[in-house]
Amino acid sequence: MELLIKNGAVVTESSSFIADIAVKDGKISCIGKNLPIEAKKVVDVSGKYVLPGAIDVHTHLAMPFGGTVSADGYLSGTRAAACGGVTTVFDYPMQRKGKGIVETVEERNRMCAPEACVDYAFHCIITDLNDGTLLDEFQAAVDYGITSFKCFMVYKKEGLMVDDGTLVKVMLKAKEVGAITNLHAENPDIIDFYIERFKKEGKTSAWYHYLSRPEFVEEEADKRAIHWAKAFNVPLYIVHLASKAGVEAAAVAKMEGYDIYVETCPHYLEFTSEVYKREDGRNFVCSPPIKGKESQDALWAAIRKGTVDVVATDHCPFQSYEKDWGKDDFTKIPNGCAGVENLYPYMLSKANEGKISFNTAVKLCATNPARIFGCTEKGSLTVGKDADIVIYDPDKEFTITVSNMHSDYDHTIWEGKKLKGYPVQTYVRGELVYDDGKFVGKPGLGKFVRRKPGSRKG
Ligand code: URP
Ligand code: ZN
Ligand code: ZN
Repeated sequence: MELLIKNGAVVTESSSFIADIAVKDGKISCIGKNLPIEAKKVVDVSGKYVLPGAIDVHTHLAMPFGGTVSADGYLSGTRAAACGGVTTVFDYPMQRKGKGIVETVEERNRMCAPEACVDYAFHCIITDLNDGTLLDEFQAAVDYGITSFKCFMVYKKEGLMVDDGTLVKVMLKAKEVGAITNLHAENPDIIDFYIERFKKEGKTSAWYHYLSRPEFVEEEADKRAIHWAKAFNVPLYIVHLASKAGVEAAAVAKMEGYDIYVETCPHYLEFTSEVYKREDGRNFVCSPPIKGKESQDALWAAIRKGTVDVVATDHCPFQSYEKDWGKDDFTKIPNGCAGVENLYPYMLSKANEGKISFNTAVKLCATNPARIFGCTEKGSLTVGKDADIVIYDPDKEFTITVSNMHSDYDHTIWEGKKLKGYPVQTYVRGELVYDDGKFVGKPGLGKFVRRKPGSRKG
């Protein structure tokens, strides 16, 4: 046996128990009390939790966006992931007019493979159907291991938006090949209407980023997306959902039995729109913007009720000088914030405080993401699954500051946030990649996860 993790409090989505975990050939080979097994490496984790590695299904690494490229590439983004207990990241390659899906993803896979410090998968953003011919490629994409496609209802001027007709074609084709459609839901025309008005009135601070995307701008698009998913009876995954009315509409559709999933992000759970009034408000600019307290409370309530399926980060950091482009014009601020290293520590700290259970944190950050996106080897501490394991010390005090993060960005919206409890070790397929504050992994260790189409339930 390669590794034996002894005496930890093992957490699954539905139970917690003291046990040992044995690892062989990168897989969990045995779980039980006082296992009579010899191993090359034995780690006693008494008093600590043993959790499945988190799966951050929403990151943008080295993404060309907002007039620049997001500040974390594949190496630094996955290194940060490892140090935050994330053992698999999903990136979003972007298909552009005239390009194919497999071609787009293969290009990114070639970039990522030598750099990845944790395992990785791709959703593919679809921006143009190439006069319909792209639809013929969906099956090939699934065969390659891409079982989710993403559309934007926004970013019209950036040429990323698809219209409702295209969206429905993507949704139908995705369903036909056993895949799912991810959607960024906001209404671009109403956003542009407000931007034009605020610019004329000389209202240019980050606060107007929030006011140009009022809560109903997301609500309308969430409801429209749900409407089409119901009308065509197709699966839908709404990314970074932040609105109270949106999450309530999703709850109803889910209760009616539709195949609809909701993702939210830690920044929507922690901050409110008040951050946009701060001097550094531009650093929090992301889309959809962080909403008011009512929406924040509704998201936590939806987590407790099970309406929110996944918490992921939308990790898309930009450097301070890039955020500063929008000091006097909020429309010039590149949209996006850092998060991949903060996801699991934050959600687990909420469990440690008693706001949610540790089981819920595991379900939202690991088990549901694996289930919804077809990572059949990952997401839970079960015999036969990949030994993607996090050891969590519930007593360790940690204050987030940019210098103790492992990314390439120069600031973080999480600066100064104090957490009770923190991951102390991360294993990817049994290999130690993070140890007590230090990255100890290596680029190239991460493997491409070929996902399987099909069942998302159960
Ligand atoms: O502001 C954001 N969310 N930036 C990244 C791109 C996206 O919309 O997910
Ligand atoms: Zn988005
Ligand atoms: Zn995103």
